[in-house]
Amino acid sequence: MEKTKPTAVALDDATVAFRLADARVYTAVEKARLSIEHGEFVAIVGPTGCGKSTLLNVAAGLLRPASGKVRIFDQPLTDLNRQAGYLFQADALFPWKTAIDNVAVGLEITGVPRKQALERAQVWLTSVGLGAFGNRYPHMLSGGQRKRVGLAQVLIRDPKILLMDEPFGPLDAQTRQIMGNLLLDLWNADRKAVLFVTHDLEEAIALADRVVIMSAGPSARIIGDWRVPLARPRDISEVRMEKDFHALHREIWSVLKDEVMKGYAQSSQAPAGAA
Ligand SMILES: Nc1ncnc2c1ncn2[C@@H]1O[C@H](COP(=O)(O)OP(=O)(O)OP(=O)(O)O)[C@@H](O)[C@H]1O
Ligand SMILES: [Mg+2]
Repeated sequence: MEKTKPTAVALDDATVAFRLADARVYTAVEKARLSIEHGEFVAIVGPTGCGKSTLLNVAAGLLRPASGKVRIFDQPLTDLNRQAGYLFQADALFPWKTAIDNVAVGLEITGVPRKQALERAQVWLTSVGLGAFGNRYPHMLSGGQRKRVGLAQVLIRDPKILLMDEPFGPLDAQTRQIMGNLLLDLWNADRKAVLFVTHDLEEAIALADRVVIMSAGPSARIIGDWRVPLARPRDISEVRMEKDFHALHREIWSVLKDEVMKGYAQSSQAPAGAA
């Protein structure tokens, strides 16, 4: 990719450690080096507990690394990353607000007048296919519909960087594909830098420009970074039939599978690696 704009997110040897309740220190991620260019879609895949959410939290400015640097559009990150929108795995909608109010709230808190915020929210609800659902409360929506509202809620603020933590995790396979295609359509229209965490290697390859693999923790590292050679625009379900898709899947899985087994074994033990 030709570099005409500053790198959206750059982690430079970021090590992240947590102090445990018994005062020991647990190093979750060690010397993570990762960059996401403007307009680039990067997926992170790794075993459970390896530190994927931790890395997103670092990029969001919610967690500060013990050592190493974080730069956002070439500026050191010293506070919350206000250029980023964060879509969490769990639904983060206000249960007492309707869908349209949930989408509008992101603008209202920045001082946009309510009438204008509602107009923009209606446009975003329509673009995620929920134009007729604005007056429903979250409990009146399906899981997939709630994820669409969540996406509109983040995108309405027009973040330059999109951080997504297994956003489609709880959805069934078909709905995940529909959401994946919706995300790609929206992203195609206005290419933001995306950092997308998933357990699902197929989903990562189908969506991303690059797939980054993490080892099992403690002291998880980035152990692989592959460019996805599939043309865009893509259809998530069709792209999985392609030869290049299978070849890349095989190659990445040969690295990932051992880490996945280690990750599952470790996730049932007390934190090792604490010192
Ligand atoms: N606040 C914390 N205090 C102590 N340890 C933590 C804290 N947050 C995360 N950890 C540990 O750091 C490691 C990485 O956690 P993280 O949530 O980033 O994993 P993950 O890769 O997102 O896992 P999953 O795929 O299951 O969501 C885990 O071992 C976790 O137990
Ligand atoms: Mg996580």
